[in-house]
Amino acid sequence: MPYNKITPKTLQQLKNIVGASHLYTSHDQRIAYGKDKTEDLLFLPEVIVLPKNTAEISQIMQLCHRENIPVTPRGAGTGLAGGALPVCGGIVLSVERLNQIIELDEENLQITTEPAVITEVLQNEVQSKGLYYPPDPASRGSSFIGGNVATNAGGPRAVKYGVVKDYVLNLEVVLADGSIIWTGANTLKNSTGYNLTQLMVGSEGTLGIITKIVLKLIPAPQHSLLLLVSFKSAVKACAAVAAIFKAGIIPSCMEFMERQAIDVAQNYLQDTTLPIRATTEAQLIIEVDGNHIDTLYNDCEKINSVLDSFDCDEVLFADDEHTKNSLWKLRRNLNYAIKNYSAVKKADTVVPRASLPQLLKGIHSISKKHGIQAVNYGHAGDGNLHVTLLKEHLTDEYWNREMPLAMLAIFQLVASLKGTISGEHGIGWIQKEYLKLVFSPIEIQLMQAIKSSFDPKNILNPSKIFP
Ligand code: LAC
Ligand code: ZN
Repeated sequence: MPYNKITPKTLQQLKNIVGASHLYTSHDQRIAYGKDKTEDLLFLPEVIVLPKNTAEISQIMQLCHRENIPVTPRGAGTGLAGGALPVCGGIVLSVERLNQIIELDEENLQITTEPAVITEVLQNEVQSKGLYYPPDPASRGSSFIGGNVATNAGGPRAVKYGVVKDYVLNLEVVLADGSIIWTGANTLKNSTGYNLTQLMVGSEGTLGIITKIVLKLIPAPQHSLLLLVSFKSAVKACAAVAAIFKAGIIPSCMEFMERQAIDVAQNYLQDTTLPIRATTEAQLIIEVDGNHIDTLYNDCEKINSVLDSFDCDEVLFADDEHTKNSLWKLRRNLNYAIKNYSAVKKADTVVPRASLPQLLKGIHSISKKHGIQAVNYGHAGDGNLHVTLLKEHLTDEYWNREMPLAMLAIFQLVASLKGTISGEHGIGWIQKEYLKLVFSPIEIQLMQAIKSSFDPKNILNPSKIFP
C-alpha cells in the first residue's frame, strides 16, 4: 500500500501537536536523523518530530494512522542493524525529549523510566543507591534505555546477568493507531495471558512506541576481579570458554578479541599500554564478581587451572582500576575503531557456547575462500561473535561481488550450528534477507500476523525485520 506524502496541512497539524520548535525539516536535520550507526546508510525522512510525552506521541500516531504516513521511531541512533533508518521516508519520531527517570523504587528494587535516558546514566543512578542494572551494551555511554529495550540489547555482563529482556517488567506503549497500553504488571512474576511485554522487547519499533519502562534491579555486587588472558591460538581461546563454564564457574564477563581487533583499537585509541606479545592470536577478558573476595580469588585459581590445557601465552591479573579501565575502554571501542579503520560489513552471530571454536574456524575459512579479511570479537561466554568483514584495499567491484557471498556463507554456517543471525543488535534493515535461514515460512508468517494485528496499515517502522 503506497504511503501518503506529508502535505502542508499535515505539517501544520504536526506543529500543532509538538510545537513548531520541535519539528525539523531542514536538509541538515534530515541528514542527521536519516542515519544511525549502521554502515554509511542514509535515508532521508520528510520531517522529524520531537514529542515530549505519551499524549503527544499518541496524537501523532492517530494523525499518521489516519493519513497513512510511515513513522520510524528513534532513540539515540546507536543501532547497528539500521532499525532507526527511515527507509520509507515519512516521519522520524525521536523520543529524545522523554528523558526523565520517573521513579526509583528502593522498596521493590524497580525503576520506572522514560525511554531517552542514557543507559549509563540510569546505571549510575541506581548504583548510587547500591543497586544494579546489569545490561551494558558497548554503546551504553550514548545509547538510550528505550533503544536497548527495542533491540533486546545485551553486552558483556549478559553472560551472568542476562540481557535486557530479563529486566523488563512492564511497558507503556503507544500503538500504531495512537492507543496507549501497558503490557503487563509491575510484578516479578506474571502468568496472566500472553506476554505482551516480551513481545514488545526486541520488536525494533515495529509494534509500538515504548514510552515508559519498568525495570527490575538487583543489589550491586561488591567486588570484581579481572583476568586478561592471551592465547597463541584464537580457536583454543574459544575452546577455553566452554571449559571454564564446565568447571562450574559463571564469570560476569567473558569477552573474546582477535589480534587484529586489538591492534586496530590500540591504534585508534593511541594507547598501547596494555601488553600484547607478538605470538598472541587472541585474548579473553574474564571477569568474576560477587560479594566475597576470597571466593573470587578461588574462582580465578580454578579458571587458571582450566586454562593450563589451552596453550596460553600469558595471564595478566588486572587488579588495579587503571588497567581495568583501559581494558574496558579498548573493548568498548572495538566497533568504532574497526569502522574507522575500513569500510565494513558486520554480522552479530550467535551459536551455542561450545560451538564457538567451530564458528571461528568456519569464518576463517569463508574469509580465506572469498579473499576478504574477517576480524572477530564479542561476548564469547554467550557464544555471541561480532564478525566484521573488512573492505580495506579491495575494489568496489570485488567487494560487491564477494562480500554478500561470504556473508551468506557465514549465516548458513551459523544456522548449521543451531545458532541464529542476531544475538543482540536486531534484524532491522540490513539482516532481514537472512531471516529465512533461521525461520521457516510458517514461523515468519506467524510473526507477520502479529505485526498486522498490531499495525494493520504497516505504518510503524515499515520494511524492517521481514524480507
Ligand atoms: C560490542 C557491540 C558492537 O559488543 O555490540 O562492542
Ligand atoms: Zn556486543
